[in-house]
Amino acid sequence: MCNTRFEGKTAVVTGAARGIGYQCARQLAAGGATVVLVDVLEDALRQAADKLQAECGRAALTCAADVTDEAAVEKLLDEAAEKTGRLDILINNAGITRDDLLLRMDARMWDLVMAVNLKGTFLMTKHAARHMLRQRYGRIVNLASVSGLVGNPGQANYSASKAGVVGFTRTVARELAKRGITCNAVAPGFIKTDMTDVLPEKAKEMALAAIPMQRMGTAEEVARVVAFLASDEAAYVTGHVLPVDGGMAP
Ligand code: NAI
Repeated sequence: MCNTRFEGKTAVVTGAARGIGYQCARQLAAGGATVVLVDVLEDALRQAADKLQAECGRAALTCAADVTDEAAVEKLLDEAAEKTGRLDILINNAGITRDDLLLRMDARMWDLVMAVNLKGTFLMTKHAARHMLRQRYGRIVNLASVSGLVGNPGQANYSASKAGVVGFTRTVARELAKRGITCNAVAPGFIKTDMTDVLPEKAKEMALAAIPMQRMGTAEEVARVVAFLASDEAAYVTGHVLPVDGGMAP
């Protein structure tokens, strides 16, 4: 798995303590990047850093921070750039669900999902872009979702936040393109992680029935596509949303 495609680069991954975020960090570290793992789960973050060291032989920096807290976001990105001398790659992966049908959906659950999935992506991107603009180089990859492309009953808040991530991605791509910074998104379908493990069996069966490949994806399968978009192999790709979904998206 080890290669040198991210040698000399600094990469920040949010929601990196587990799931897709951890696998993204692993792909980047295996390519030689210095990775900064960001998450709200402090213990899981430390364990993730130990695991990354064992699997890739590279020490990662960790930062316990909430992506909705602007002061914390600014501080962590400044510190990452100061400690490593650069800031090349940002993976906006932190995300949550608070599912319910429209009429039962509490406005607080709407706000919470919007805050983490959409505002968190905005804050991280805004403050990372300052460093990337100075370098005239950057790779930003956002985690959208098939729910944000086609909708999903019970996920009005989540699908709206992810559709927001798509519009945000396309706009940032256009704003920053001439400064050597790309911004793309992946839209995973139904991926086996802690986020989907908690779904009721019936919901899992319905989701599986909608997947042409008839299986859930793995976090690693998503992370490999994220790593491609973060690499120089995708240097001329910006403003795109790539589904990683076993054929679910139309
Ligand atoms: P997960 O729940 O396993 O991991 C998400 C991570 O984000 C957790 O470690 C969590 O502590 C962290 N996080 C949550 N709120 C945070 C905050 N405010 N600040 C910093 N970190 C925070 O989820 P999973 O499945 O790995 O999902 C990763 C991303 O992929 C999310 O954006 C999710 O919406 C997206 N996605 C996942 C799909 C799936 O089927 N698992 C499908 C489509 C998109």
